[in-house]
Amino acid sequence: MNAELQLEVKMEQPRIKIQDLPGVGAATAEKLESAGFHEPLSIAVATISELCEAAGVSESVARKMINAARDSMKMGFESGIEVMQRRLNVSKLSTGSDSFNTLMGGGFETGAITECFGEFGSGKTQIGHILAITTLKSDPEATVVYIDTENTFRPERIKQLAIGADFDPEEALQRILVARAYNSDHQMLLAEKVESLITEQGRKVKLVVIDSLTSHFRAEFIGRGTLSERQQKLNRHMHQLSKIAGSFNVCVYVTNQVMAKPDQFFGDPTTSIGGHIVGHASTFRIYLRKGKKGTRVAKLIDAPNLADGEVCFEVLEGGLRDAN
Ligand code: GTP
Ligand code: MG
Repeated sequence: MNAELQLEVKMEQPRIKIQDLPGVGAATAEKLESAGFHEPLSIAVATISELCEAAGVSESVARKMINAARDSMKMGFESGIEVMQRRLNVSKLSTGSDSFNTLMGGGFETGAITECFGEFGSGKTQIGHILAITTLKSDPEATVVYIDTENTFRPERIKQLAIGADFDPEEALQRILVARAYNSDHQMLLAEKVESLITEQGRKVKLVVIDSLTSHFRAEFIGRGTLSERQQKLNRHMHQLSKIAGSFNVCVYVTNQVMAKPDQFFGDPTTSIGGHIVGHASTFRIYLRKGKKGTRVAKLIDAPNLADGEVCFEVLEGGLRDAN
């Protein structure tokens, strides 16, 4: 079983839409959409009264919708063997630094979300560029998607890193699909598009970079009054990303800024944006900071099967290397 085979299996599963459920016409689908029910899963876990209220349908129609949504998806258990089979399909994308790879259990995993947070200049964007190159180099069929919110994607840097990795710079640029996200809604729309790149265009998307995950959310929801709205929206975005990572064996790499934590007197007085919403949805979280003499320090936090630890690396013209 390789990753490609798994992708095929997943894609053959029927993908039903909300409109395919009984009793859901165009108008009802629109009402459901605007109430936040974007996919059958959200219907499957909804209550009858929630649906009645959101779509203005009768109780019996709501019940039929829920049952049909539940039937349409495999919501059962799987054996540990099946889970292990799936784990065998996981690829590890190299950072170029051996110690960083070791910290991550071999590299950045496909099928998972990895978040890097840290102050400006700590290397978050560089890691995104480097992962793009190693992904393309390790798999001749792979496509990389780069969702850029701060206009920091640099084709020149991709070329440099490609040369550093002994890979054709033109081919690298050709196989990276870059989209500039103008606001958080646009960012979420682009994330949705990733799925159709895979299912409709048959692209083998192996890495999705979102740099930065939170900048638009942070800018658009200023002030405490709108914080919970922001968190809800961010939660939906993280849910989208988990689905892409899990369903299609994609490595989702997201960057995140830190903000000052004024009530913290001991330890590091910073915290990441989006707090527990982003933290819980990410499989791996890495805290990046600047070390001595231009080095960078990566600290692994909350990883499911890896020991927490810290490594030191350098960003060089040709890529990441261990710092000695
Ligand atoms: P923000 O997006 O501002 O929050 O920062 P970031 O964490 O994304 O930082 P980024 O990845 O942009 O790191 C920038 C740093 O990478 C620079 O300060 C340099 O130290 C290093 N860097 C970038 N390009 C090169 C290069 O071509 N050669 C070398 N040696 N270092 C580079
Ligand atoms: Mg950056």
